[in-house]
Amino acid sequence: MGARDRIEVMHGVNLDQLGRRDSAVYGALTYDQLEQRIEGHARELGLRVRFFQTNDEADFIEHLHRLEGLADAIVMNPGAWTHYAWAIRDALEIAALPTVEVHLSAVEEREEWRRVSVVRDLCLATVTGKGPDGYRDALARLKEELEA
Ligand code: DQA
Repeated sequence: MGARDRIEVMHGVNLDQLGRRDSAVYGALTYDQLEQRIEGHARELGLRVRFFQTNDEADFIEHLHRLEGLADAIVMNPGAWTHYAWAIRDALEIAALPTVEVHLSAVEEREEWRRVSVVRDLCLATVTGKGPDGYRDALARLKEELEA
């Protein structure tokens, strides 16, 4: 078997609008710049990343359905879907890949409704409030898992 090093980095709704969103909460990077940062973290860790972002929940779900054989693990920031999209949770369960949930902001310190995550119990770990560096933590955790 070849190296298990293929990480699918999935971003959900409104994350393509980074750069226009409140920079005090989400930082100043645009989505493209965030991808570049993540790419750099992955390179340092010797992982291969592929990116996917959509504002359409059905596309997000279908992307999860299609991952079999194409990815070894997932880094996921579903945006607001995190807090209520049970269909995404079910699709993640079907994908059955090691996953780390990431949020740029400290969701647990914000509004009550952001404290719920429908995917959390399916994930190896959740990283919140560390901005773009949170993705490095997520990738490092998955590397550990894939090499175990
Ligand atoms: C987010 C937090 C969510 O509550 C919010 O809806 C987002 C971004 C984050 O990365 O901090 O869109 O997932």
